[in-house]
Amino acid sequence: MVLEALAKLIKVQLPAYLKRLPIPETIIGFFRLTVAEWLRLLPFLGVLALLGYLAIRPFLPKKKQQKDSLINLKIQKENPKVVNEINIEDLQKTTAAYCRCWRSKTFPVCDGSHNKHNELTGDNVGPLILKKKEV
Ligand code: FES
Repeated sequence: MVLEALAKLIKVQLPAYLKRLPIPETIIGFFRLTVAEWLRLLPFLGVLALLGYLAIRPFLPKKKQQKDSLINLKIQKENPKVVNEINIEDLQKTTAAYCRCWRSKTFPVCDGSHNKHNELTGDNVGPLILKKKEV
């Protein structure tokens, strides 16, 4: 039943529809079309444009969202460059973990946010751990 309807659509109705379309035989003929003819042609041209787009879409370069290309999404965005300076001598503990994923809420200190980021994105970032030798 469905195939029968589809066959009728493809073999009978579609050719009849295409035959009635006011497709000009030359490029100049497009300029001579009336508004009514353009309106009859518009759905057909829309379908052609959609099919053309779908056909070339796999070959179009993927446009990355700018958010994906940014590393720092929210930390000190008012600064042209975020620089942190830490004197090793000032380290209170024997180890300190510093964020390299730019997702920490306590930046530049790692708060473990890299774990969630890694889970969500499949990334593998982690902190820079500074160890102070005990003498
Ligand atoms: Fe960024 Fe841990 S939170 S490396």
